[in-house]
Amino acid sequence: MSSTCSCCEEDCEKKVSGVVKGVHAKLRKKLKEADGDYERIWLEHCEDEASLDEYAFAMQHLATEHWSSKHPDDRIKWCHHACRDYFFRGGMSRALTKDKRRRQHDQAKLPPLTPRCDPTYTMNGNLVSGSGDCDHCIPTSASSNQYNTISLPVPGPLRLLDVGSCFNPFLQYEEFLSVGIDISPAVDSVHKCDFLNLQLQPSLECAPDTVDTYLRTLKSPVETLPRETFHVVVFSLLLSYFPSPYQRWICCQKAHQLLQLNGLLLIITPDSSHQNRNAAMIKSWRRAVESLGFRRWLYVKDTHLHYMAFRKVSQELSLAMSDAGPDLLYIPQDFNEDLEESVFDENYQRTGEEDRVISDGFLELPGGAGNHFTSEDEEENVICDDSSEEWWQDSQ
Ligand SMILES: C[S@@+](CC[C@H](N)C(=O)[O-])C[C@H]1O[C@@H](n2cnc3c(N)ncnc32)[C@H](O)[C@@H]1O
Ligand SMILES: [Zn+2]
Repeated sequence: MSSTCSCCEEDCEKKVSGVVKGVHAKLRKKLKEADGDYERIWLEHCEDEASLDEYAFAMQHLATEHWSSKHPDDRIKWCHHACRDYFFRGGMSRALTKDKRRRQHDQAKLPPLTPRCDPTYTMNGNLVSGSGDCDHCIPTSASSNQYNTISLPVPGPLRLLDVGSCFNPFLQYEEFLSVGIDISPAVDSVHKCDFLNLQLQPSLECAPDTVDTYLRTLKSPVETLPRETFHVVVFSLLLSYFPSPYQRWICCQKAHQLLQLNGLLLIITPDSSHQNRNAAMIKSWRRAVESLGFRRWLYVKDTHLHYMAFRKVSQELSLAMSDAGPDLLYIPQDFNEDLEESVFDENYQRTGEEDRVISDGFLELPGGAGNHFTSEDEEENVICDDSSEEWWQDSQ
């Protein structure tokens, strides 16, 4: 049954979710008709102010009036909890310790140091100097420094970029300096910005409070942002909006450039109702995102959504996966435009049991028994849900 909300008539939910699904479906249809010319389709879409406004209102209304009573802000809360656990409760330190061990393990397999070789590393394990002529010290083109790397404790608020923010749900948390951007903001605090066409400037390289002030005084429309500025980038229900995998790929690349080293990319995306397709899709996404210089940190699956957290672990693309490309970031609708995104189905209602499991997971991370969580690190002490584990880890 579709519910009514305080301000609307019966069947409101059906109407607003219809608007949202209709825009997604129209974009997909247009892309198909335009034979894959996504740039033209996108330009036309961004110029269609009436449909963007209608979508913004519908999405905000759906999320804040209808979804809030069924599953209050799950995806927003999940982001908040993941950030808190990573930055303030030891998640990042444990991940770095594990990186260090992994590096030592890899180096132990290398031939002995040459006499000229004297590599030094930062605490984050990035190469600072070395002769550059042996396997121990292949120089990276962009090494880590105090401006492009997050070190603990984080001074000041976490700078969070919410892409496709719509109604700026992260403003409610004092830990965040939330910068919401959207092609069609539903509230004044969100800046108008097309992330796909956002230009990147060199990083600011100045004290954290100067960066904070810069972000607090941004003006709409936002057309450029400095690289290596954010602790967190959020894509909540963003990537499935795009009709082309290439657009999703551009977004992940931009997120990588905007994050500081050790920063988090949080991706929340609808599932499809087909279990096996979900598993294959998540593995494929993981591979794509890791190829851009991230490493998986956390994954949760609930009835209709996948929640993923990746850490930025290098300034460069991972060469080991250089054959990875945009096509890996597919969604089932790319192949079958009639498929629905179940999260926008007005009949969607999670069971009480599922709600309990999800909130237990929130509360008990990282030391407890939230059984829907799986992380890259067994020592995170997060107990993994079997199916999630299978989806997220490498196949053996
Ligand atoms: C499904 S809504 C999700 C809204 C919100 N993040 C949430 O989780 O409730 C997707 C949002 O992404 C925005 N969006 C789509 N493409 C974008 C782009 N290229 N740049 C910025 N925002 C975009 C849309 O306008 C829309 O508000
Ligand atoms: Zn309503």
